[in-house]
Amino acid sequence: MPLPASAIPAPLQDNDPADAAHESLETLSLLARRRSTKVGRLAEPGPSEDQIDALLRLAARVPDHGKLGPWRFVVIAGEARARAGEALAEAIAKDEGVDEARLGAARGLLQRAPACVMVVSTAAPHPKIPEWEQLQSAAMASFALLLAAHAMGFGGCILTEWPAYDARARAALGLKEHERIAGFVYLGTPREPVTERFRADLGSRVSRF
Ligand SMILES: Cc1cc2nc3c(=O)[nH]c(=O)nc-3n(C[C@H](O)[C@H](O)[C@H](O)COP(=O)(O)O)c2cc1C
Repeated sequence: MPLPASAIPAPLQDNDPADAAHESLETLSLLARRRSTKVGRLAEPGPSEDQIDALLRLAARVPDHGKLGPWRFVVIAGEARARAGEALAEAIAKDEGVDEARLGAARGLLQRAPACVMVVSTAAPHPKIPEWEQLQSAAMASFALLLAAHAMGFGGCILTEWPAYDARARAALGLKEHERIAGFVYLGTPREPVTERFRADLGSRVSRF
């Protein structure tokens, strides 16, 4: 049973005491055992508006060089999923060879799960903060959102797929020219248990300098 939004501690204000460390076996266990759920396996119920708002408050607490907040979140849930899908279909409708199947897939893309949060990188040239670091903050926000959703009791996954790489699709979803889609974070209730996947071998990826 997912936790209600009210279960999340109240937001801290500037200069409130915060946690420099927070011993938590539950967090370690979540990190050791969590898995994404395939988008087609995410069923109702999805997170409510209150739950999504609470998750976004947590996702926004990511490291962020220069305190720029170089990301924004677009919630696509409920009937908005069909409207967003229609905008995607219109974006490709005049493409050569486009058929009903492709248009139907575009229309249904965001309806595969109960809710989706599009995490948008707003990274832009800055006199002190490299865009590379701004992009990383957006990627962290995507993962923080997914982790928070898992901890609230929801399944989810991060996908980019073609709309992230199609300028017309990005415009149709309301992105400005310089903005990029860091990820669509799909959320819902897993239809079935998940199992562990292959993990990158650390032996060849960890060294001691
Ligand atoms: C930024 C980003 C974009 C992704 N886009 C896709 C995608 O478009 N299609 C896909 O099949 N998987 C994509 N993935 C991978 C899925 O999220 C995948 O389910 C996940 O890596 C499974 O690993 P996990 O169970 O450890 O989360 C993407 C991953 C990331 C980090």
